[in-house]
Amino acid sequence: MTRAERQAALEVIAGEVRVCTRCRLHATRTQSVPGEGDPSTEVVFIGEGPGFNEDRQGQPFVGRAGDLLVRLLGSIGWRREDVFITNVVKCRPPDNRDPEPDEIAACEPYLRRQLEVLDPAVIVTLGRHSMGRFMPGARISQAHGTMRPTDPATGAQNALVFAMYHPAAALRTPAIERDSYDDIAQVPTALIASRERRAARERTAVAVGAGVATAVAVAPEPPAEPESIQQPEPEAEPSPAAAQLVPSDQLTLF
Ligand code: URA
Ligand code: SF4
Repeated sequence: MTRAERQAALEVIAGEVRVCTRCRLHATRTQSVPGEGDPSTEVVFIGEGPGFNEDRQGQPFVGRAGDLLVRLLGSIGWRREDVFITNVVKCRPPDNRDPEPDEIAACEPYLRRQLEVLDPAVIVTLGRHSMGRFMPGARISQAHGTMRPTDPATGAQNALVFAMYHPAAALRTPAIERDSYDDIAQVPTALIASRERRAARERTAVAVGAGVATAVAVAPEPPAEPESIQQPEPEAEPSPAAAQLVPSDQLTLF
């Protein structure tokens, strides 16, 4: 898909979200918050749901948690415009309560379709509710700072999901804020790992398509990966350019 096609497809989804009445959260919202960012990005950040400021402005992460998210992104040289930012539920739960399971389920098709369009290499989950969609059964105290392959049923066909604490939790607890800076420092490495995985898949598909593996009708699954991969130490500090999240000359593909 071209950038313009992605942009148009995301705008169709956003238009549906703005008028959606699929769950009770529509009744108390000011505006729904579809999400925003670079339609060609490789990285999608997913929070829980809009808060007070997001509900007023119609944009994700524009309050204090958003300010911290921008500082976290800045610590790795990224800007919010370089990524796509959205939430598990697109309308504000009243009094900032947790979203209910039926609300998350009602809203799920929008997030899934956004991920199908964006086809990200990396999904960063912010907080428990977002992590729960991509790492079922994981505990945030153990899963933060780790990654694993996504289930294609989430809409992200070929991505790694990386878990972080919610920035609002980091605002409340200095130790969680420190962990969040440590965790986000590993996201560029996750992006490089995911690019390598995606390139390997592509090569397999091309080889099969060219009849190199004639006995195989469909592209085989890539080699099994452990349930959860602890990040390796990067060999050198990644220094991503803003426009290109990690320069591709840092790739070691062959
Ligand atoms: N918290 C979230 O989870 N999402 C937002 O958009 C803002 C705050
Ligand atoms: Fe629709 Fe999602 Fe808003 Fe519920 S939270 S009304 S499903 S957009």
